[in-house]
Amino acid sequence: MAEPVAQRFAVFGHPIAHSLSPQIHVHFGAATGISLEYTALDAPPESFPAQLAEFRERGGRGANVTLPLKQAACALSSSLSDFARRAGAVNTLTRVDGGGWRGDNTDGAGLVRDLTGRHALDLRERRSLMLGAGGAARAAAFALLDAGIGELVIVNRSPERADALADAIGEPARVFTRYWDDLADCGSFDLIVNATSAGHTRQDFALPFKLLARRSLCYDLSYGEAATAFLAWARAAGATEALDGLGMLLEQAAESFALWHGVRPDTDAAYAQLRAGLPLHATD
Ligand code: ATR
Repeated sequence: MAEPVAQRFAVFGHPIAHSLSPQIHVHFGAATGISLEYTALDAPPESFPAQLAEFRERGGRGANVTLPLKQAACALSSSLSDFARRAGAVNTLTRVDGGGWRGDNTDGAGLVRDLTGRHALDLRERRSLMLGAGGAARAAAFALLDAGIGELVIVNRSPERADALADAIGEPARVFTRYWDDLADCGSFDLIVNATSAGHTRQDFALPFKLLARRSLCYDLSYGEAATAFLAWARAAGATEALDGLGMLLEQAAESFALWHGVRPDTDAAYAQLRAGLPLHATD
């Protein structure tokens, strides 16, 4: 009998070389008995639309999208899930037969599932600080607000982008923006999320230690090396929990996998293995 033809998937980003998504999706495929091919494609913003069109011509069925392309992917989607529309950012594209791409965003669900499921943390009423206002920050902000955090303060290097996010959320009694330089006067927070891409260029974090409340959770949406600087700051400042985004990465991948294949893979084994610094093999 002929082997089933592997379905073709990819992750687009820039840079993308160190992405774990190909390993994760191939591992999920093996664990669920679904034959798939998944590659990482480096796409500078200016050539992303043409590369996505070419991927489609070669039979691409679905794609993940990472920085800095999530807002561009939203604009390229022919239809959007409610959450992707609210966030204005797409991390999962699904080919629509007949033309176009359906845009979803699984980042927010992935973040909340990692925090409240894997780490059993209660987010309700936490006074929260979001560093950054790009595609990743947008999804995280909407999901955390839906999960019941208290006040949310957003700061971003370019303040107009923070204002745009606060406007999109539209909850002026709960969501505020501040200038980065005024952080020392913002009080303390129970949850601080780093959604900037500063760590990818190894930039240091010079934030005031007094931003942390007595019991505080610091979370970097990045993982590995890119999260090192922020988590080092968080630990030095006395954070009760300092977590990178490895769990979120796995949970958003599992959500994307479920959208494409109709089955949600288990993430615990992959999490333990990646946390131990071991590669995932298709046969694990
Ligand atoms: P992503 O999809 O990961 O959110 P993005 O949309 O390119 O990627 O957003 C990157 C975020 O990191 C933005 O909030 C960006 O700030 P600007 O909007 O001012 O560009 C932030 N960022 C990147 N480098 C930074 C740095 N060195 N210091 C502080 N913020 C930085």
